[in-house]
Amino acid sequence: MAKDTTFSSKFGLIAATVGSAVGLGNVWRFPSLAQENGGGAFLLVYICCIFILGIPVMLAEFSLGRAGRSDSVGSFKNLTPGNKWWIAGCFGLVASYLILAFYMVVAGWTIEYLWQSISGGLFEGFNSASSQNTFFADKMKSLILSGSEPIFWTFAMIALNLVILLKGVKKGIEKISNILMPLLFVILLIFCAVSLSLPNASEGLKFFLTPDFDKINSQVIVAALGQAFFSLSLGMGILVTYSSYFPKTTKMVRTSVTVTFLDFLVSVLMGIIIFPAVISFGISGSENMAGMTLVFVTLPEIFAQMGGSQWWSALFFLLLGVAAITSTISIAEVSIAFVHDRFRISRKKACFIVLLPLFLFSTLCSVSLTGVEWLQIANLPLFDALDKFTANMVLPASALLICLYVGWVLPKNFLKDELTNYETLRSPITPVILFLIKFVCPALIAIIFLANFIKI
Ligand code: PFF
Repeated sequence: MAKDTTFSSKFGLIAATVGSAVGLGNVWRFPSLAQENGGGAFLLVYICCIFILGIPVMLAEFSLGRAGRSDSVGSFKNLTPGNKWWIAGCFGLVASYLILAFYMVVAGWTIEYLWQSISGGLFEGFNSASSQNTFFADKMKSLILSGSEPIFWTFAMIALNLVILLKGVKKGIEKISNILMPLLFVILLIFCAVSLSLPNASEGLKFFLTPDFDKINSQVIVAALGQAFFSLSLGMGILVTYSSYFPKTTKMVRTSVTVTFLDFLVSVLMGIIIFPAVISFGISGSENMAGMTLVFVTLPEIFAQMGGSQWWSALFFLLLGVAAITSTISIAEVSIAFVHDRFRISRKKACFIVLLPLFLFSTLCSVSLTGVEWLQIANLPLFDALDKFTANMVLPASALLICLYVGWVLPKNFLKDELTNYETLRSPITPVILFLIKFVCPALIAIIFLANFIKI
């Protein structure tokens, strides 16, 4: 079914797409990976990944979605009716729904922490004079790793998604992104100013921004590639779905560069916030930076030592909640567009069909994350394994299929026509992008993917 829904403004289109890209991946995953993989060295490899792989794969997805004018499966069907390439779209569709169930749980925790900050519960009983080494680790255990409370907040997050998505693409997704994205950047800048004014801030910046070339190895490359895919929302059908709402006049190359740059900027700003802060407060050990410990234990520890702890903490978890919600709506939209387009049911019904089962699936995910005793706080083995499997394997595999399809299966001029809006735009870098999508991306993804697979 060809769609006539489009984003209503350029700003809205960029805000929604950046909203999808900027998420927990920037705020929590990026600084942890940077710490684990050599700071500046990781940053350098990451920049190479987004230029060589991120922008071209994003453009392949944009072209597929805008020309196919349907959901992540239907776009394949519209462009090449009769062949089986639509199965590649199912890959992203299924993966996105599984990811959504987990992502929603963590997104729920962010609003639980926001509420706990505002109500003061997070800092209740904290006494800076005595030894409080495990205070916030214990808090995290009681707030999000046990009991029914995390499930309640996950439900609240699902309900919030439902309210936004029921309003549709323009009045729901676009409108909320128009409000929340500028808010996110304002909060980020406030935290940057605070962090840079801390004593010893320059030491943290030095670690984050100076590349140590000896640290670059295959593990760093796989991690940077996975992060680029995760952060830019690639390989999930998200960008195919969103670009089916792009008007025919959208300048695709410019849009992809803007989205990638803004997403990168948020990650870098997060680094500029986190590294000076952890070094200044003397809690920069890798155990403090790992995974969710960084966000739910280390940062509250820092806020507790600042004047107005409660409000700094609330502002930070508001930032995290905003980042999470604009991403969850984009992941959910993949399945909603699919159900709406494929089964020709109303968008409202599609929203319920997609989101209601999440109350059950996310509960199962929440229980699997929180109810199992051997899941340690700083190091959740199941969660980490799933996270790495998704980012380092599922997303690259899906993106590889899209590059092959767009570069080799569709007619020779397809990409060129899409990137130049049928030769109405002059884009000198189009031949480079075509070369990257056809040859470089598939080869590089396949090599890195195999290297990772063999290691596993
Ligand atoms: N790009 C978003 C983030 O970095 O959090 C949302 C997201 C999309 C997460 C796709 C995971 C994913 F596989």
